[in-house]
Amino acid sequence: MKGILLAGGHGTRLNPATAVVSKQLLPVYDKPMIYYPLSTLMLAGIREILVISTPDALPAFRRLLGDGAGWGLDLQYAVQDQPRGLADAFRVGRDFLAGAPVMMILGDNVIYGGGLSAHLGRAAGRTEGATIFAYPVRDPERYGVVELGTDRRAVHIEEKPTQPRSNLAVAGLYAYGPDVVEVAAELTPSARGELEITDVNRHYLDQGTLDVEVLGRGIAWLDAGTHESLLDASAFVHSVQARQGLMIACPEEIAFRQGFISRDQLAVLARDLASNDYGAYVAALAEGASS
Ligand code: DAU
Repeated sequence: MKGILLAGGHGTRLNPATAVVSKQLLPVYDKPMIYYPLSTLMLAGIREILVISTPDALPAFRRLLGDGAGWGLDLQYAVQDQPRGLADAFRVGRDFLAGAPVMMILGDNVIYGGGLSAHLGRAAGRTEGATIFAYPVRDPERYGVVELGTDRRAVHIEEKPTQPRSNLAVAGLYAYGPDVVEVAAELTPSARGELEITDVNRHYLDQGTLDVEVLGRGIAWLDAGTHESLLDASAFVHSVQARQGLMIACPEEIAFRQGFISRDQLAVLARDLASNDYGAYVAALAEGASS
C-alpha cells in the first residue's frame, strides 16, 4: 500500500499565523505538524508516500523532509494548484499510485493512542474497498458524519450535516483499493465547489465495501485546523511526553522500531540532530537506553 499526505489548502482559518507559512508546518508543541500524520502512515507500515501541497508551500516541505531515505522512506512530491477538494488528491496522485491501494491522511490530523497500530494494520491490509475511521465527538456537524447500523456497518454518510445522524465524525484518514482513482475521476464538485471525500466514501458504502474502524476511548484524534485545536494538540503532546518521557510522532524512532532503518542508521541521524531534547531522545534510543 502507498501513502498520500495531503497538506495543501488555503489555511485561511489560521491567518495571520499562516500568512507566509503553511499550516502543516506550524509546530504542534515541539515538531512541525506534518510529522504527526507522516508518523501515522509510517506506523501503518507505509514507506512510499506522496506529499501533496500548494505551489508556494511544496518547496518548504521538500526542504524539511527531503527524499525520506534517512528514515527508510521514499518520499515524493506533487503540486495541487487549486484546493479542489480532498478527493482531488487521487487525480493529482494517479501516476504515483500506478494501480496500488492507498492510505491517505490529511496533514492537520493528529492521531495517537493505544491500539492505533492494530486499527492501522487492518486498514493497511486492504487491497479493495475502503476503510474509514470514525471517532465520537461533541460537534459532529463540523465533519463528515457516519451512521452505523446494528451490525456496526455504515448505513449513512454525510458531509457537515446540519442535523447529524450520529456523533461519529469521520477522521481525515482513509484507505482504498486501487479503483479509488477511477471513483475520484468520475466525481463532480459539490455545492461548496469541492471534490468531496465523502462522495468517494458514499460510493463504497453503496457498493457494500465500506468498512468503519471506530477509534475508541484510548485514542486521541485532534484536527489542528483552528487556533484552539492547535493549542489543544500542543498541550496534549506536551502533557503525554512530559509524563512518559516518550515522544509522540518522532519519525526517527518509528523508522527504527518499524525496522525501516538499523540502529547504526539511527545513530547517524542522532549525530546530525541538534543537541536539544529531541536530539538527546534519538541519541538515547540509538544507544539502546529507551524501552
Ligand atoms: O478532518 C477531518 C475532516 O476533513 C472530515 O471529517 C471531513 O469529512 C473532510 O471533508 C475534511 O473536512 P474539513 O472541513 O476539515 O476539510 P478542509 O477543507 O478543511 O481540508 C482538510 C485539510 O486538507 C486542510 O488541512 C487543507 C487540506 N486540503 C483541503 C482541500 C479542500 C488540501 O490539501 N487540498 C484541498 O483541496
